[in-house]
Amino acid sequence: MIERRERGRTGSTGTKAWDGRFREKTHRLVEAFTMSVETDRRLYAQDIQGSIAHCKTMRKAGVLKAVEMATIVRGLESIKQEFNRGRFRFRPTDEDVHMAIERRLTELIGPLGGKLHTGRSRNDQVALDIRLYLRDQLDVLRTRVQEFQRALVACAKANRAVPMPGYTHLQRAQPVLFAHHLLAYVEMLERDKGRLCDARTRLNVMPLGSGALAGTNYPIDRGYTARLLDFPAVTANSLDAVSDRDFMIETAAALSIVMMHLSRLSEELIVWSSQEFRFVDLPDGFCTGSSMMPQKKNPDVPELIRGRTGRIYGHLMNLLTTLKGLPLSYNRDLQEDKPPVFDAIDTVSAALEIMTELMRRVKVNHAVLQQAVEGGGLLATELADYLVTRGVPFRDAHGITGRVVRAALESKRELADMSLEELRGFSDRIQKDVFAQLTVEGAINRKAQVGGTARRRVEQRIKELERALS
Ligand code: ARG
Repeated sequence: MIERRERGRTGSTGTKAWDGRFREKTHRLVEAFTMSVETDRRLYAQDIQGSIAHCKTMRKAGVLKAVEMATIVRGLESIKQEFNRGRFRFRPTDEDVHMAIERRLTELIGPLGGKLHTGRSRNDQVALDIRLYLRDQLDVLRTRVQEFQRALVACAKANRAVPMPGYTHLQRAQPVLFAHHLLAYVEMLERDKGRLCDARTRLNVMPLGSGALAGTNYPIDRGYTARLLDFPAVTANSLDAVSDRDFMIETAAALSIVMMHLSRLSEELIVWSSQEFRFVDLPDGFCTGSSMMPQKKNPDVPELIRGRTGRIYGHLMNLLTTLKGLPLSYNRDLQEDKPPVFDAIDTVSAALEIMTELMRRVKVNHAVLQQAVEGGGLLATELADYLVTRGVPFRDAHGITGRVVRAALESKRELADMSLEELRGFSDRIQKDVFAQLTVEGAINRKAQVGGTARRRVEQRIKELERALS
């Protein structure tokens, strides 16, 4: 009887680890409907790593003999090799990667494989696996963000003297350095790294020992498991440990913000590379042509990044919605947590990688930017501030300058093209030295406080960033 059950549990008859209380076999539709190996197979290395640590903990608690532990660990390592070499074969009866590995272990080492799961549930097991996986992925993502920052700083440095029109409401507003504009993205990405780091810190807690929901009967040293897996702490509540997915939501939220930043820059590159702007040329190798219009060179890469941003937001909403009505503790709904998070990681990673390469190759059209910055009345604020230095209250200075701007527009000239007499017609406080104020360079370099666009400030920030990001 026990013999037969044991054999059944090896999986060789196609039965399941949990089928003891069932009269009927699982319907094939249910098998297909519930299985998650397509998604969770990517957790195989973490699953095996976690199982080895669990096994050692069970040994330390005296639940496994030394020789049993050694055999199980050896079996797990050879399964890892099978995965690494692409030789692992899943079966239709494998519900998820955890069951597949246990099934294979039993094939390799016999009934002893059935002891691995002592004192553990897939609920705490999967909670551990995702944490281990995300911990690594968040580190990789942070590195990717940093490489992208480096590409932006390099582009800023290579074009550090070039002015451009700065915009508000997509209307030309005041001159800024092109480098200053790019460095704005570097600051956003710095905060993104902070968020990825925060998410990592909060998820870095060891859940094994929570069992299915209540904890475990075995006298295990959870701190020992945590040390083996390099966790600084263990979870404090078993119900929370098996049902908490905050860390996945946080990860998806942090990735949504990264993607939003990539999307904003994408939008700018799309606009800047248009015939209307021509501020930059995107590298040919990163653009595509039209099947019908031979002259077209389309910015598909930034467009697709902008386009995929919605998908990442969708993943965040998906997770929040999945969790909002769930009673404690584990519910099978939670199996749906992985596809959105895995896709968010893959998509944001790929977007960061390709944007880094694109920014390394983007050509900045200095002449076009220079010309753009000289038109459009960008120096009007400089005239108003000049009047302030002559004792005119800013509100009056604003009004006077507005009238000067209108006169300039009507005669199709820039402010600096007007004569001193004309200007004095608007205010007798205006002197000859006004013309020194009405230059793009002066306008930029007077913004010399911390955070301003003055050349000296921007070059200083480039240096600081180069040091911080190296
Ligand atoms: N595959 C499941 C998941 O990813 C883990 C299995 C837990 N299943 C269960 N019936 N308790 O969430």
